[in-house]
Amino acid sequence: MIFPTDVLAVLRDPRTEIRDDLVRIPFEIGRAVYEQVDKILKDMSGRWDGRKKVRAHVFPYRIEEFMRQCLTAGEYPSRYDQGWYATPPALVTQLVDLAGIRAGETVLEPSAGAGALSGEIARRGGLVDAYEIDERRADILREQGHCRRVFAGDFLAQDPMEYAEGIDKVVMNPPFSNGLDHILHAVQFMKDDGVLVSVMSQGLMWWSDRKSVEFREIVEEVGGEIEALPDDSFAVSGTNVRTCVVFLPGYAGSRLRTHDWLMRQPLQLGLFDVAA
Ligand SMILES: C[S@@+](CC[C@H](N)C(=O)[O-])C[C@H]1O[C@@H](n2cnc3c(N)ncnc32)[C@H](O)[C@@H]1O
Repeated sequence: MIFPTDVLAVLRDPRTEIRDDLVRIPFEIGRAVYEQVDKILKDMSGRWDGRKKVRAHVFPYRIEEFMRQCLTAGEYPSRYDQGWYATPPALVTQLVDLAGIRAGETVLEPSAGAGALSGEIARRGGLVDAYEIDERRADILREQGHCRRVFAGDFLAQDPMEYAEGIDKVVMNPPFSNGLDHILHAVQFMKDDGVLVSVMSQGLMWWSDRKSVEFREIVEEVGGEIEALPDDSFAVSGTNVRTCVVFLPGYAGSRLRTHDWLMRQPLQLGLFDVAA
């Protein structure tokens, strides 16, 4: 949900205290704006604590870094809007550590949102190519300036062959509705010996459709792992959706349809092109 301009102005006001688990507005604001601020902070699971020594909205988690993400994005996740969830800071560190990003490596973030993951990857020296379907968030990524390239558009419609060579690492937190499609597409951008780390809906650990079953087999074959995250991992982002982390290390000769794998296929397609 987009913050109304007045609310954004109050929350971005340097006098507004946003620290630890609370948001405190220690100055006068009009009643109508206050009501909007109050509603939004409650949508984000804040609770008004009117005791004299508190007088603030208190959250069941540390709001500080997360609110910074929301204020940068100009939007917030609420119970009524399941579209965008920033990756919470602790999970960002966990994912980027797991991917083992080294300075100078190329990294793909295919659903980059407002840059929670891409910012940390860039801080560690990764050269990030980010995709984001939402134009406004893509603009935010450009303004942040930490990505090597930002593409605004549908990642699933991107042709991996537009890359002359594969990407070293993929780090992602794709939309939960079709996360596996995003992961399988991202693999096609990766080198044979690349590494993919992704958040996914925990259903991936037991879904019985063919695509999910085959994916779990491949993860096992390559020595990867799918590990459940604690139930409250996304509480900070306003949702209790259950998630897991996929760790997928590639190697030459694996069953993964990587960028290198695709590069080994094109001769036949070339023949068809000539015949046409
Ligand atoms: C769960 S959020 C994660 C944001 C970001 N990765 C992070 O860690 O904070 C998913 C993001 O994917 C974007 N998205 C959804 N479908 C997409 C698509 N087909 N191509 C590119 N981005 C997409 C959404 O707009 C949203 O910003």
